[in-house]
Amino acid sequence: MNKAAMKLLILFLPLGMISTAQAVDLENGEEINELCAGCHGEYGEGDKNGDYPRLSGQPESFISKQMHLFRDRKRPNLPMLEYVDERQFPDQEIADVSAYLAQVELPTKLPPFDEENFDPLKRLLEAKRVVNIPRMPGDIEAGRKRYKRECRSCHGSEGWGDHEKGVPMLAGQYSVYLQRQVKKYLDKHRIHDPESPDDELLAAFTAQELDEIWAYLSTVDD
Ligand code: HEC
Ligand code: HEC
Repeated sequence: MNKAAMKLLILFLPLGMISTAQAVDLENGEEINELCAGCHGEYGEGDKNGDYPRLSGQPESFISKQMHLFRDRKRPNLPMLEYVDERQFPDQEIADVSAYLAQVELPTKLPPFDEENFDPLKRLLEAKRVVNIPRMPGDIEAGRKRYKRECRSCHGSEGWGDHEKGVPMLAGQYSVYLQRQVKKYLDKHRIHDPESPDDELLAAFTAQELDEIWAYLSTVDD
């Protein structure tokens, strides 16, 4: 890579990554993302039913860690297996696509309607990028308090995750997907807190208490 390209690359990396930056190739990451787009959407926006999670804007190290877990068969994910098989997915490719997806920003709302310069195609493309999590039923205020007490220290003050520590966003992720992941943690198919793998935090809540947390998180991006 020439010097100018390297400079550009550094400009596009989130601040926290610069110190650990190996040479990632965002263009290659964008190309690889075409493989992912069939399920996760062209912009990594996921699908609204929560079958496929949103990936864009997640911490780079979170995305790459999950990719390694899938590839090494440590986190079950049948639909993705063939895509992450080692022969097709060397470490460098994981690094590239993770860095690419981490820097894709998605708006939470459509820009205001501009009657004079209305361009239907442009509007359609804009709408595809918008992710706004549908409201979940439940006591939002109770959920907010519980979130702040039990989750914010790691997932961030309003649930947007922690890029430095690689903790994923919960706001901006589909509620149904999050609910399924809690079950995977409880069934020990995933490890929630690698620093204390036997942690029972999520098991301590009733279904209703968790629902209140999702209800709160679904309002953060409104
Ligand atoms: C055939 C469909 C499919 C394709 C193609 C696919 N994925 Fe996935 N991916 C899934 C499904 C389904 C899940 C959720 C699995 C679960 O429920 O635990 C997932 C989960 C993930 C997660 C975990 C996200 C989280 O918040 O837990 C990451 C990261 C991911 N995929 C990255 C990728 C990347 C990068 C590509 C392209 C190289 C890709 N996926 C291609 C189906 C797909
Ligand atoms: C000690 C830090 C910590 C606390 C506190 C914490 N989390 Fe997490 N959480 C993590 C980490 C780290 C991950 C990613 C782990 C992995 O690789 O699967 C995660 C992942 C998740 C995921 C999966 C997200 C995804 O996209 O796959 C859910 C759901 C979740 N946490 C819910 C919660 C809830 C709800 C609370 C509060 C009741 C909470 N967490 C508190 C550290 C924490």
